[in-house]
Amino acid sequence: MRLKDKVAIVTGSGSGFGEGIVERFAEEGCKLVVNDVNADNGNRVTDALNAAHGDGTAVFVRADVTSDEEVGAMVAEAVERFGRLDVLVNNAGISHRNMPMLDIDEDIVDRMFDVNVKAIWLAAKHAIPHFRKVGGGSIINNASTAGLRPRPGLSMYNASKGAAITLTKSMAVEFAPENIRVNALCPVAGETPLLATFMGEDTPEMRAKFRASIPIGRLSTPRDIANAALYLASDDAAFITGVAMEVDGGRCI
Ligand SMILES: NC(=O)c1ccc[n+]([C@@H]2O[C@H](COP(=O)([O-])OP(=O)(O)OC[C@H]3O[C@@H](n4cnc5c(N)ncnc54)[C@H](O)[C@@H]3O)[C@@H](O)[C@H]2O)c1
Repeated sequence: MRLKDKVAIVTGSGSGFGEGIVERFAEEGCKLVVNDVNADNGNRVTDALNAAHGDGTAVFVRADVTSDEEVGAMVAEAVERFGRLDVLVNNAGISHRNMPMLDIDEDIVDRMFDVNVKAIWLAAKHAIPHFRKVGGGSIINNASTAGLRPRPGLSMYNASKGAAITLTKSMAVEFAPENIRVNALCPVAGETPLLATFMGEDTPEMRAKFRASIPIGRLSTPRDIANAALYLASDDAAFITGVAMEVDGGRCI
């Protein structure tokens, strides 16, 4: 039970990597706030966690991570329900369809930077005062190999993930004296609903092309990302801060 008695918020956990992370954390005794803008998915995941691990394991809070008010209410709900906050996983993210950079709509660029970058700052504003009360905390930002080794056709997404990585390192330095660790995960292309956006079209040929760029020879899974998140959230990583951990089967080598 590597997260026994800990409380975590995982944004965007109604689907994909976030869903994998809350499942893995619950297996290790964590209490969870499942967050998403999609209430159907958020409730589905929360019900499954409570059925598998006992009532009161998880609560769903619908909140848009770009809204100061809604994020504030989500953090308040976590502390009211579970009495403390130890871990924040900024996992919610969006991309633009794979396309030439000059063709992307400005609205999409703005929204993507709000969700993928600004939301990390907003969540920190609300969560860090509660970390201070318990003497520390762990923030995990789900970035991407896109921020380290950009693929063509995803330039503005790549830039948002690069910003998330730099923000992670900057926050790590700023909050280290308070025992608040801040790390990033850098998954390679994974089996989630977002995958088609990255590939442009989900065809066997396109999947083969992506797989060919990954030395271990497969795409990532929610379980791969969840295992790495578990390590960074746990006390095993007590001396680890400011890393951008590739979970990529060797893609970035
Ligand atoms: N799938 C990949 O290939 C891949 C690779 C590297 C990094 N990532 C990153 O992993 C994270 C999770 O992505 P995923 O692949 O699981 O995608 P996903 O679409 O399956 O899950 C993302 C979830 O975030 C939610 N969300 C979107 N905007 C939100 C908002 N404003 N507020 C709250 N929730 C919101 C969505 O409703 C969705 O449930 C993202 O940050 C993504 O950029 C994904």
